[in-house]
Amino acid sequence: MRVSVAGWTLNDTPEMDEEQFHLWRALLEDRTGMRLTAQRKRFLETSLCMRMREVGCECYDEYYEQLVAGVAWQVEWAALVDHLTVQETSFFRHLSSFNLVREYCSDKWSEKENRTLEIWSVGCSTGEEPYSLAMLLDELLSAPKDNIQRARFGITATDISLPALSKAREGVYNERKLDHVEPIMREKYFQKVGEQRYQVIPQLRERVCFARINVLELSAVPFQDLDIIFCQNLLIYFKRWRKKDIVNALTERLKVGGLLVLGLGEVIDWEHPKIARMPYENTLAYTRIK
Ligand SMILES: C[S@@+](CC[C@H](N)C(=O)[O-])C[C@H]1O[C@@H](n2cnc3c(N)ncnc32)[C@H](O)[C@@H]1O
Repeated sequence: MRVSVAGWTLNDTPEMDEEQFHLWRALLEDRTGMRLTAQRKRFLETSLCMRMREVGCECYDEYYEQLVAGVAWQVEWAALVDHLTVQETSFFRHLSSFNLVREYCSDKWSEKENRTLEIWSVGCSTGEEPYSLAMLLDELLSAPKDNIQRARFGITATDISLPALSKAREGVYNERKLDHVEPIMREKYFQKVGEQRYQVIPQLRERVCFARINVLELSAVPFQDLDIIFCQNLLIYFKRWRKKDIVNALTERLKVGGLLVLGLGEVIDWEHPKIARMPYENTLAYTRIK
C-alpha cells in the first residue's frame, strides 16, 4: 500500500500496514541488530517521516526501496540510523561498574611491571561513557604513587551512529548532564564554553579515540589484547543469539586477565570456555582466564 506522506505534519504521520512494519523491522535488525517491538511502531513511523520529509520521499515504500537499492543511499542510511537508535546515556551511568574498573586498574597498575591499559567502550553514544572512564583513570594516575608513574591508558570508543560520534568528539555538554560528575572532576576536566555549556578539556579528549564500528561487523575489527571492554545498554536491544555472538567476539579481543563489563541483566545464560564471572557486587562482569 502506498500511503503518501506529502502534506502531513508530525502529529499526523500516516500509519504503515503490518507488511511494511515487518519489512522495516527486518531491515533495521539485519543492519544494526536492534529489535523494534510492536510498541515502537509509532516511533518508527515518526522517525521515518521526519527523514522522508527531509529527503523528499513520498511514501514508506519508496523510501525503503531507495535505502536498500545501493551505495548512493548509504549516507542516508547512516542519518536514519541516528534517528532510530536509542542513544540515551549519562556520565558514570552505572556506578558499580565504574568502581569495578577503578579497582581493576588500580590493582593492575600496582603490579611491578607498569604498563599501558587499553580500554574499549562499545556503543559509546555521545561520549559520556568513555569520558567517564578517562576521568576515572586520569584521577587514578594523578594520585601520587611511585609505582604507577610509568602507567598509561588509551581509550577507543565506538558506535554505529556518526552524528553521535561527532558530538562525542566535540565533547560539549549541557550543565545538567554534568550532574552525575563529582564537583572535583567537573572543575578539573571541563571548561565553560557558553551559557550552561561545558567542554571536556583537550588533554582528556586526546585520550579517547572515536571510530564508527557496527557490532554486527566485529569480525572485521582489528582490535586485539584489550585490557577492558566496557559494553553497556547496547545488547539489551538485540536478540539472545546475537548477544551471544557479540560477547563471544568481544571475548576474543580481550587479553588473558582482561575485564569484560556488561550491563546488569543484559546477557543471561552465557558461558564461554575462556571466561569466568567476576564476583563484584551489582555488576555483570567477566575476566578472561585463557
Ligand atoms: C543506549 S546507548 C548506550 C550508551 C552507553 N553505552 C551507556 O550505557 O550509557 C546505545 C548505543 O548503541 C549504539 N548502537 C546501536 N546499534 C549498534 C550497532 N549495531 N553497533 C554499534 N553501536 C550500536 C547506538 O547508536 C547508541 O549510541
